[in-house]
Amino acid sequence: MHIPTLISRKREGEELTAREIQQLIAGFTAGTIPDYQMSAFAMAVYFTGMTAAETAALTSAMMASGDCFAHRAGHPAVVDKHSTGGIGDKVSLVLAPLVACTGCWVPMVSGRGLGITGGTLDKLESIPGFNVNVGLDDAAAQLERIGVVMMGQTARFCLADKKLYALRDVTGTVPSIPLITASIMAKKLAESLDRLVLDVKFGSGAFMRTKKDAETLAASLLAVGKTMGVEVHVVLNPMHEPTGRTVGNALEMIEALECLDGGGPADLRDIVLDLSEKIAGTARETLAQHLDDGSARRKFEELVAAQGANPADLPRLGEIHRAPVVRELPAPTTGVVTKVDAGMIGQAALQLGTGRSKASDAVDFAIGFDRLVKVGETIHAGHPLCRIHARNAVDFDMAEAMAAKAVVISAH
Ligand code: URA
Repeated sequence: MHIPTLISRKREGEELTAREIQQLIAGFTAGTIPDYQMSAFAMAVYFTGMTAAETAALTSAMMASGDCFAHRAGHPAVVDKHSTGGIGDKVSLVLAPLVACTGCWVPMVSGRGLGITGGTLDKLESIPGFNVNVGLDDAAAQLERIGVVMMGQTARFCLADKKLYALRDVTGTVPSIPLITASIMAKKLAESLDRLVLDVKFGSGAFMRTKKDAETLAASLLAVGKTMGVEVHVVLNPMHEPTGRTVGNALEMIEALECLDGGGPADLRDIVLDLSEKIAGTARETLAQHLDDGSARRKFEELVAAQGANPADLPRLGEIHRAPVVRELPAPTTGVVTKVDAGMIGQAALQLGTGRSKASDAVDFAIGFDRLVKVGETIHAGHPLCRIHARNAVDFDMAEAMAAKAVVISAH
């Protein structure tokens, strides 16, 4: 197969065959097709899209780039959740241990930061020693023992997504419906699930800016889900303002712990319960009780210990990751908060260092935003709109200017 010709054909909007897509992914996974050609291919897909048949072929080729979970006979319901990506979206960190409290198995395979959105793996790695590179045998044993594993793609599991995800993150090729569909569904197919809930976001802090585009993405995800023989639920959620009050890896982990302790912001708890209810087969009240009585927190601590970290570090994350510059942004006027632009806050967080600009970059766990105001709150002049955690004064000034634009206050 002549790869430059294949890229050109896709650039011109031609439909590729399943075999061509399968060979492309196999070559990329094996390393015989270099990153620059795969990046060009991703950009061609970004501009010209894919047919439903091509998207399905891409998904199964990516799933087949590694092994799949093979759950033992008589296993409990195997369930999972995945988000299409948002700002301050730490839902998975709470949902996975919570749903495991109900007796379901949750083999959650997540990603790193992508575009302006944060990634579950980066947030988990803010816990010193937390290992997301779990092999399939260890993951299966952990499911048997504690009912939950939170891991990334590995050299043996969804390798094509591991590689393509990292390329898309730094080549402007994230917001593409077929690429998002294949990325998410390849991971979920490989988990061999019984039930899946998909949190499809729309708004300035999501890859799909409009509800209409989110509906198109949802339809694409459902179409591939149908071929999986899995019960798939899709929930559309606005992403106009960040979820909760924090954006940044360790800061989000700290807020997720508050939610696991039965507290935390109401919008975060609501999304966690809305999505958990769809897959856990358990009443909302029971799920809420697992948050309030400490069961979900204890399950998360079991997970942390199972994956190489020390639960005793959890209350110390703020000290472990302390940014050199931590300052509040005061409100310029008194009034009601009418907007906290998620896209702009996400962009500011990315520039502070929460994400990557090259695939080899390390993320900065300490920096980001906390104590963010929420839409609908009354604020008084001089009171904080948020707290900014920055590496240095220059970064702080940049983030301060962007956050000041992101928050709109209207007089009563
Ligand atoms: N989550 C994923 O796993 N992949 C995407 O492309 C977007 C969100």
